Amino acid sequence: MKTAIVIGVGPVRGLGAQLCTRFAADGLKVIVAGRTKSAIEAVANDVALSGGRAIPVIADATDETDIVALFNFAGTELDLAIYNAGNNTPGRIIDMDAEYFERSWRVACFGGFLFGREAVRRMLPNRAGTLLFTGASASLRGRSGYGAFNSAKAGLRALAQAMAKEYAGEGIHVGHVVVDGAIAGDKIFQRYPDAASRQEDLVSIEGIVDAFAFLYKQPPRAWSFEVDVRTSKEKW
Ligand SMILES: NC(=O)c1ccc[n+]([C@@H]2O[C@H](COP(=O)([O-])OP(=O)(O)OC[C@H]3O[C@@H](n4cnc5c(N)ncnc54)[C@H](OP(=O)(O)O)[C@@H]3O)[C@@H](O)[C@H]2O)c1
Repeated sequence: MKTAIVIGVGPVRGLGAQLCTRFAADGLKVIVAGRTKSAIEAVANDVALSGGRAIPVIADATDETDIVALFNFAGTELDLAIYNAGNNTPGRIIDMDAEYFERSWRVACFGGFLFGREAVRRMLPNRAGTLLFTGASASLRGRSGYGAFNSAKAGLRALAQAMAKEYAGEGIHVGHVVVDGAIAGDKIFQRYPDAASRQEDLVSIEGIVDAFAFLYKQPPRAWSFEVDVRTSKEKW
């Protein structure tokens, strides 16, 4: 059975969770990876209730031992790996301590290196597989008050692009989805209680998941590196 790993899974109404749900519905065995046991178990149960196969595995994206163990657990039928971890880290540079900046980079960029390296190592023997990264507006531009997050996400995108070029010839499709705007999911609904009533300003999770599925299903003679997704109202 083809296997997918999604790391960076939080609430059921969140992007990581809905990526798990979609690829399980498409017939993959999905390994639901994240730091919070209750969250990943809830997502795996949700997938199981819909008839899909999902296994929760606790893993911190920034911990090399966790990531190697996660891929060992996934086995040899790994066909899809998605790096979705990356919480926003606002703050002005002059007020920021070094540890905060480094932590932001570890989650949004360094973890992508650990995860991407292990994914490609496991996919190369089959000369097949898809590795996808979640980006943000921050991936493409710096913005006042977001220097730590912008630089980390831009680094992740450059890493993904380098990997796409490095491994395409060996059958590995690497892609990046730019989510250009706030996502209509629990993260935003909890932070901004009025957000649920202005969903038209928020990027649809289903639409983002469609972008990942589009990249995953592309044939080797028509690969894209990147898809960007935003609402029709977004000024960009
Ligand atoms: N939310 C938005 O509006 C928005 C907009 C544009 C782009 N994005 C991008 O979309 C992706 C998903 O973000 P989301 O906010 O919507 O959340 P989400 O997909 O619902 O969940 C992502 C989960 O990743 C987990 N995570 C964070 N650090 C981790 C680590 N070191 N190891 C393992 N898991 C980790 C967090 O759970 P725990 O804290 O429980 O571990 C978080 O709940 C991120 O890459 C983000 O940058 C989000």
